Amino acid sequence: MLEKLNEIEKTALAELETVQDEESLAQWRVTHLGRSSAVMQVFSSLGTLGKEERPAVGQRANQVKVRLEGALAEKTEAIHQAALSRSLAEERLDVTLPGRRLPLGRLHPDTQTLRELYRIFGEMGFQVFRSREVESDEYNFQLLNFPVGHPARDMQDTYFIAAEGRGDNPLLLRTHTSPGQIHAMREFSAMDPDNPPPVRIVLPGMVYRYEQTDARHETQFDQLEGLAVGPGITFGNLKGTLADMARRLFGQDVRIRIRASFFPFTEPSAEYDIECFLCNGKGCAVCGGGWLEIGGCGMVHPNVLKNGGYDPERYTGFAFGLGPQRIAMLRYHIQDIRLFWQNDLRFLEQF
Ligand code: FA5
Repeated sequence: MLEKLNEIEKTALAELETVQDEESLAQWRVTHLGRSSAVMQVFSSLGTLGKEERPAVGQRANQVKVRLEGALAEKTEAIHQAALSRSLAEERLDVTLPGRRLPLGRLHPDTQTLRELYRIFGEMGFQVFRSREVESDEYNFQLLNFPVGHPARDMQDTYFIAAEGRGDNPLLLRTHTSPGQIHAMREFSAMDPDNPPPVRIVLPGMVYRYEQTDARHETQFDQLEGLAVGPGITFGNLKGTLADMARRLFGQDVRIRIRASFFPFTEPSAEYDIECFLCNGKGCAVCGGGWLEIGGCGMVHPNVLKNGGYDPERYTGFAFGLGPQRIAMLRYHIQDIRLFWQNDLRFLEQF
């Protein structure tokens, strides 16, 4: 029997060695110290032993039980300590570590430039007027003095939208922001048809052209249209407005150039260039000859005024259509307009 008790003790202690967590410890306790454990069965069988054997077995059984209980207490403490230091390690906070950087969003360089332009024109008294991107041929061309089949339409290769039964007035993606001139003038003149109020607006937005891309041409790009209509507005006002805009953007010494050109909806018409800062006027792949074309402009054609509800005998007006991305290229020294919509973070994160 004493042999058996030694064996019980040895087995229980060996098993306790392998116990690592509270769950298996509880299981060990039931198996080795519970009511039906081997050592407890020895206690219950003491009555069946002979008188001489009984005290020694009883004493040894007691030793084994006490030894196992002691080992259980030690193991319980050890497991508890291990769990505690594990959770402390997990919770450890090193306040000297640098903070985690949050990835910050930012405004697209085109949006930044547009907002700067709204601010500048806002200070000059121009309001922002928004107009649709899907247009009809009538607004994009006809009311702007491009008759059906007019060769000037070739200046702006057009994405037409397949639509049945619209004849000479198909839907299209606007090729410029100029149709907004008609929408705006019609909205303003409807307020008081006999005495339409003066107009001073900028019309921003995406435009689309089916054309060959290069460093300064995209198929989708922004324009910022400007329109001022009122009694006695002159070409001098137009020139002054564009020169002032350039100075506010690029400083007092910036040089601009206005060259005669042609648009069906303005007369006279001109192109508006700013000296190229990418090459300091020497001529580069972006500008060509030292000047970057920023926009078209001119005095609103009498037919266009009429189509907008303004009597050309009483009112004159100027209009311009700028390429804000070309301005952003000068501002930030961007060498290729195609970078704007490629969504390459290496490009976008620079602004
Ligand atoms: C026009 O679109 C006229 N509607 C501008 C205008 C408005 C003239 C009001 C008179 C009165 P143009 O096609 O030149 O004109 O384009 C105007 C500007 O848009 C250009 O100077 C240039 O800055 C920009 N632009 C034109 N084509 C592209 C293109 N493919 N990619 C990027 N920018 C362009």
